[in-house]
Amino acid sequence: MMKVAIIGTGYVGLPTGVGLAELGNKVVCVDKIEDKINRLNRGELTLYEDGLEELFKKNVANGMLRFTTNTQTAVKDADIVMLAVGTPPHPLTKEADLKYIYAAAKELAPFLNGYTVVATKSTVPVGTGDEVENIIRQTNPKADFDVVSLPEFLREGFAIHDFFNPDRIVIGTQNDKAQKIMLELYKPFVGKSEFLCVKRRSSETIKYASNAFLAMKIHYINEMADFCEKAGADITEVAKGMGLDSRIGKKFLNPGPGYGGSCFPKDTNAMAQMGKKYGAHLTLIETTIAENDARKIKIGQRVIEAINEHPEGKIAVLGLAFKGGTDDCRESPAIDIIKEMIRYSRNIMVYDPKALENAKTILNNTVHYANSVEEACMNAEVMVILTEWEDFRHLNLTKLKKIMHCPKIIDMRNMLNGEDVKTLGFEYQCVGKKVI
Ligand code: UGA
Repeated sequence: MMKVAIIGTGYVGLPTGVGLAELGNKVVCVDKIEDKINRLNRGELTLYEDGLEELFKKNVANGMLRFTTNTQTAVKDADIVMLAVGTPPHPLTKEADLKYIYAAAKELAPFLNGYTVVATKSTVPVGTGDEVENIIRQTNPKADFDVVSLPEFLREGFAIHDFFNPDRIVIGTQNDKAQKIMLELYKPFVGKSEFLCVKRRSSETIKYASNAFLAMKIHYINEMADFCEKAGADITEVAKGMGLDSRIGKKFLNPGPGYGGSCFPKDTNAMAQMGKKYGAHLTLIETTIAENDARKIKIGQRVIEAINEHPEGKIAVLGLAFKGGTDDCRESPAIDIIKEMIRYSRNIMVYDPKALENAKTILNNTVHYANSVEEACMNAEVMVILTEWEDFRHLNLTKLKKIMHCPKIIDMRNMLNGEDVKTLGFEYQCVGKKVI
């Protein structure tokens, strides 16, 4: 059993805290936002993740998991302090903004008590570990500690599943003592997961290089989809054929409206900036970023073209979240596509099973909000699917055909069976193939 303090209770900190408590560690989660900590202490979760609530309640009840705003009480007893605060993109430079990380390092330093590992879970540029170390040393010259990079690979919506089934655990330190402690913490995964102990700078790079590679993979399949549409091939068949090569792999070959979310856009930008900083231009990543942005504009225009006979006609949008299974609209392609459409149309009605409230804070009164698929599609000229919600696979198309003004569907997530949709009499466009 280890004593772990986690600074930051967001999408990384909270599931990690709950997971580590479930593995038998004594965990204290710290956050500056008092309201958040009060809610967590009342047994109320502050974010939704599948499977999180049950483990959260269990570990609070058995005393393995606590929440506080007081850094001192959490840090003084800890064997390991994890930094899991945000590293949002700087609005101007697009570099990762490290002010929260550095502030947390400064704040925790005076309370380190006995040998402590300070592990950075937040996604941070190469060299941040060195700076965290300097800050702690300057603030508390007597502190006995080591700084380790411990990148996180959890997906939003699957955080608990991914916590307990990691592909790999990367530990960035060349210090034996710190390495031993981290290996002890993750002992339950021995035999189930790959362990990789590397230099701190390699570990920091692995996180960005992985996210940027996945973003590029998505961009690649999106470009291939555009090619297939023009060349008369079918991207679903092509992706399947490619994915069967184990060197390529089946995952992340689903074409769509472009990647989004709080990680890929931020991390590709930060990686590109790092490339510039070190004079090693990352041209593939730079192109991916530019083309992923351009894709959303093109899709917005594709929808507008679909209503060119009735420019005043209603556009129904299904899906606002950046991916299915979450209410998160940060950097959602759906939102950017809608923003492009708004330049031409004020008759847009949107629906999402979970993300309506979050979308409202971004789109305000530029669009209308529907409480159901039917309400969104009523009298619509075209229906556009932008997020891969499972519900959208099972739409009552017979009914929708009756209530839409024009039976036209643009399915940017390839959710529907094209042949069925056509048989019902819809005009149908999807990604990377022509359904005849
Ligand atoms: C991503 C990574 O997958 C995680 O490993 C990583 O830990 C996380 O970022 C992070 O850095 O914190 P996440 O942002 O939750 O996780 O979302 P993904 O499931 O990776 O999807 C990202 C975007 O790519 C979504 O917009 C999704 O719709 C899109 N996508 C994904 C596709 O368009 N096609 C695909 O085949 C897969």
